[in-house]
Amino acid sequence: MQHDNRGLPLTTATAEAAAAYDHLITGYLTQRNDTASRLKTLFAADPDCVMAHCMKSYFSMLAFKQATIPTAQDSARAAQALGAGATPRERDHIAAATAWSEGKLDRAIGIWESILRRYPLDVVAFRLAHFVNFWLGRPGDMVSSVERVLPAWSEDTPGYASMLACHAFAHEEAGNYFIAEPSGRRSIELDPGDLWAAHAVAHVLESQGRREEGIQWVTTLAPNWAGAHNLQHHLWWHCALYKLEQGDFDSVLELYDTRFRDLAGPLTLESPDVYIDVQNAASMLFRLQRLGVDVGDRWVELADKAEARIGDCASAFTLPHWMMALIATGRTAAAERMVEAMRAYASGSGTVQAIVRVYGLPIAEAQVAHAAGRHVEAVVLMRPALGGMYRLGGSHAQQDVLEQLFLEAALKAGRAADVRLAVERVAGRQTLPPEQLIGWRKAARQVAVKDAASAVGQAPGRNVVDRVGTAA
Ligand SMILES: [Fe+2]
Repeated sequence: MQHDNRGLPLTTATAEAAAAYDHLITGYLTQRNDTASRLKTLFAADPDCVMAHCMKSYFSMLAFKQATIPTAQDSARAAQALGAGATPRERDHIAAATAWSEGKLDRAIGIWESILRRYPLDVVAFRLAHFVNFWLGRPGDMVSSVERVLPAWSEDTPGYASMLACHAFAHEEAGNYFIAEPSGRRSIELDPGDLWAAHAVAHVLESQGRREEGIQWVTTLAPNWAGAHNLQHHLWWHCALYKLEQGDFDSVLELYDTRFRDLAGPLTLESPDVYIDVQNAASMLFRLQRLGVDVGDRWVELADKAEARIGDCASAFTLPHWMMALIATGRTAAAERMVEAMRAYASGSGTVQAIVRVYGLPIAEAQVAHAAGRHVEAVVLMRPALGGMYRLGGSHAQQDVLEQLFLEAALKAGRAADVRLAVERVAGRQTLPPEQLIGWRKAARQVAVKDAASAVGQAPGRNVVDRVGTAA
């Protein structure tokens, strides 16, 4: 029996394997792109390390990709075969890995939280619960989880900077920016290369409209990101979002081509269909097009990958992004095939299946209707999903693109009440008024004009929305 570097028992015979386990977990926590080779080193040191099999299962699920689920299931079974010699905490990890690989995500979260009640230093259980809760749109659970666990930690505990990063991000997503920002900045002081902390503060700066600070924040920290995984692309996407808000569309496209979708550039994407990369790319192209910017043929490679992933619904929030690519390239038949595949997936049981059924599917159907010019139908389809579509996952900044999708359909449908609904939803969700958010300015002004006209008893016409048009 060995111990990990936080003092938790680890079932393995050698100090070499325990060190390899610590190296692996550090790599996971700090978003290194070599976790696969770190896992290989651990297996070489101890092929029967039960936590190695659990981590392999977890990593396979963290890809949020249908093709890697069988590996997750195989690894969970391999861990089960070693369960008799494992500690109770490790057996809980086996159960959580098994549940997740079978689609029972809520059960997995429940197990991780039960581990944390007994072992608040189990950073794997914590980090997985944190991350999965994020992708299920549960910021409240993210906050309560980190607030329960953090008192057991100190700056001397290995991985503390990563915990602070999670503290920052959980509170950012809950809207508690005054708690989030100092935690994120402290994490960066302890580890300037912590991308999750950089990301949490980037979100605070985005939410508060501190765009120039945001650009400085990302560009100043970027030299620390050598060896980091795809999260660095997402940070550059945030940088592009600040530039977009400033109206600097040339810089947005330059960042697109060189920093977060540089398919042939110095930061070549090894797996260009990773969910976060696809979300970055599609959501930015969608925003640019709404603003009338010519994005060239950038949609094509995304649409090719979308077609190849029809039927893969493992990442619920990526689905509307895949659909955007298919629709932008006029691939109507493929878009309809994707809807059919989503319908089949949604008929199954499981945490994500239910989310796709209630939120993902109506949005996809609305996208198809909107693309076909059936804008009223699109609005009617999407409206019931509005209140809960945050359950698809994604941050407030990412969810905004779905809000814009609804706004666009409402504008084209000429439904003033739905335009107002969209604008007021964003007004209630964002720190900044919609008039200061690109993509929302014109619609916000339309609503304001109509209000002003109503106030003086001079209605400006049957439908202001129709007359003003749809440009953002
Ligand atoms: Fe983000």
